[in-house]
Amino acid sequence: MAAALVAALVAAVATLAGTASASPAEGSSRCPRSPSTRPPSNCSRRRTWSSDPVAARRTGYVPGEDTEWVTVKYGWTDPSDDDWIGVFSPSEFNSSATCPNPWPAEEPYLCTAPIKYQFANYSANYIYWGKGSIRLQLINQRSDFSFALFTGGLDDPKLIAVSEPISFKNPKAPVFPRLAQGKSHDEMTVTWTSGYDISEAYPFVEWGALVAGASQPQQTTRAPAGTLTFNQGSMCGEPARTVGWRDPGFIHTAFLRDLWPNKQYYYRIGHELPDGSVVWGKPYSFRAPPSPGQKSLQRIIVFGDMGKAERDGSNEYAAYQPGSLNTTDALISDLDNYDIVFHIGDMPYANGYISQWDQFTAQVAPITATKPYMVASGNHERDWPDTAAFWDVEDSGGECGVPAETYYYYPAENRANFWYKVDYGMFRFCVADSEHDWRVGTPQYEFIEHCLSTVDRKHQPWLIFATHRVLGYSSNAWYAGEGSFEEPEGRENLQKLWQKYRVDIAYFGHVHNYERTCPMYQNQCMTSEKSHYSGTMNGTIFVVAGGGGCHLSDYTTAIPKWSIYRDHDFGFTKLTAFNHSSLLFEYKKSSDGKVYDSFTIHRDYRDVLRCVHDSCFPTTLAT
Ligand SMILES: *[C@@H]1O[C@H](CO)[C@@H](O)[C@H](O)[C@H]1NC(C)=O
Ligand SMILES: *[C@@H]1O[C@H](CO)[C@@H](O)[C@H](O)[C@H]1NC(C)=O
Ligand SMILES: *[C@@H]1O[C@H](CO)[C@@H](O)[C@H](O)[C@H]1NC(C)=O
Ligand SMILES: *[C@@H]1O[C@H](CO)[C@@H](O)[C@H](O)[C@H]1NC(C)=O
Ligand SMILES: *[C@@H]1O[C@H](CO)[C@@H](O)[C@H](O)[C@H]1NC(C)=O
Ligand SMILES: *[C@@H]1O[C@H](CO)[C@@H](O)[C@H](O)[C@H]1NC(C)=O
Ligand SMILES: [Fe+2]
Repeated sequence: MAAALVAALVAAVATLAGTASASPAEGSSRCPRSPSTRPPSNCSRRRTWSSDPVAARRTGYVPGEDTEWVTVKYGWTDPSDDDWIGVFSPSEFNSSATCPNPWPAEEPYLCTAPIKYQFANYSANYIYWGKGSIRLQLINQRSDFSFALFTGGLDDPKLIAVSEPISFKNPKAPVFPRLAQGKSHDEMTVTWTSGYDISEAYPFVEWGALVAGASQPQQTTRAPAGTLTFNQGSMCGEPARTVGWRDPGFIHTAFLRDLWPNKQYYYRIGHELPDGSVVWGKPYSFRAPPSPGQKSLQRIIVFGDMGKAERDGSNEYAAYQPGSLNTTDALISDLDNYDIVFHIGDMPYANGYISQWDQFTAQVAPITATKPYMVASGNHERDWPDTAAFWDVEDSGGECGVPAETYYYYPAENRANFWYKVDYGMFRFCVADSEHDWRVGTPQYEFIEHCLSTVDRKHQPWLIFATHRVLGYSSNAWYAGEGSFEEPEGRENLQKLWQKYRVDIAYFGHVHNYERTCPMYQNQCMTSEKSHYSGTMNGTIFVVAGGGGCHLSDYTTAIPKWSIYRDHDFGFTKLTAFNHSSLLFEYKKSSDGKVYDSFTIHRDYRDVLRCVHDSCFPTTLAT
């Protein structure tokens, strides 16, 4: 298998070592690519080109081959800092720079958006020798790849040369499994991407319980998967509908049901071909969620606004999430120490460049393959004018929520309304959708009240609210300038609910930093205690955890009284429930994974029952 994979890549190497015409070639037409022969060598100016799979040195079986590093070599007798390498997939592309580009268009302006690009001078001494070599990481995204050398910079690109196409051995392979808790605690959903439509193969998950310490189950069963996709016509605007469009392939979800709380399960995604043979993904395992109210160690990661970035140092559209890889890596290296993740909106920042959804799912796959990864909707997933979003802005680049709502499963009644509840042992999470109206009287308000009011706090004491935009408090400079320290009409509509139902922590992203408030209600701290809360919680603690990776947001210089800790850095938070009366909150930096802020809550059930300001009905007949 490995050998075949390598061969497939090697076969594509060593092609396109020819010469180019005196003027840069137009498209690939002058020096056509062909699978087996060299391109015609009747051009006068020399150029060289090849790509080598570094993976050739690797050994071992690689089912569901998902990522690969390739070395791309190139040469050009007239090198300049304006030269760059574009990566295209599918390999056929339109190098014309005269397409009408959406406003505000991002460079490079081409009729086909490269999935990423690197400057030719990234290779040392390219400028002097006219020869370069760069390593690029490719992810398996259902199509072949080509590399093209351009000159003229990003704003006026002229094609010099194009490589032979290269391809993963099976471009359709099932890849990037992502777990999410289903509508109840005993259901795990597995979602993945492949190139197989339902007419070509049956998608399924093979799974089974593991006895302690075993890596293979004694018995397995197959859960069938559903298949979804979306097309260009379901995008709302540019660039998603035009230059940023890329076929998303097929997205499958299977439901693994009747799980035993806390039990370890093995699973493997696959597709059964008509002849009965199976194309497998890699095997993984996960631990089933605790049952609601169950006492066991429960550890939860919460952050927002992470984005994606290229591990090979190359550039791409919407590349402004410099902290993304550190956050991802911190979470990958700590997989043994948490149980479930909440990414509360602004996932890839694909902004209409659909290929980046594959990139993001690949980046977080080491996490999502073994931990339920619960997502929320952000402005960069959903917002687009005239699409019934709460905000009439273009932040989704024309996606209007379609990729987010398809690539990831979450237990919403209607995935277009991105709100849902998650019971996780002693926790209940009410995840809201700040891109849709939440005000009093709306369906979402009803959902929020229902979610908050239906939890039995003696068994699930830890009640958490989470949404993308800051509907609570943040001393972000922009909000402070507005005088509100929040999004318009945020807490005004919700704080009575948070107080009435005694929400412990309300989480937000969108603002790219970390901030934690005192337990508060209506702008007031309800206690002067800063880190060890015990007894009755008289208010809700508000946390902004939007430092997942996107470029950082500034605070206002005057620190409001309610702001207890602020950190202008990349990071994420962790909740640990030891039992029904003890909760630990930690904030960690992504750069070193160390704790920089924390607090604890210790209390008993009677502390939840006790009336505090606005938490009980105004009349009481007790004597
Ligand atoms: C050079 O290219 C021209 C077309 O551009 C073609 O007609 C000719 O056969 C080529 N010469 C060689 C030697 O390949
Ligand atoms: C390489 O080229 C880019 C784009 O022209 C330029 O911004 C960068 O400074 C150059 N890098 C080096 C090392 O010369
Ligand atoms: C490339 O796109 C331009 C502008 O839309 C179009 O005129 C041209 O025909 C396209 N070229 C190819 C080879 O498709
Ligand atoms: C809540 O208020 C009560 C009464 O003022 C006070 O005794 C208690 O300590 C407060 N709780 C916390 C966690 O500060
Ligand atoms: C809850 O866990 C905390 C932290 O481990 C511990 O100190 C406390 O004794 C536990 N309480 C109960 C009631 O088990
Ligand atoms: C990522 O982590 C490294 C290692 O701790 C650190 O040097 C670097 O500054 C971090 N990057 C960002 C963007 O914070
Ligand atoms: Fe946002």
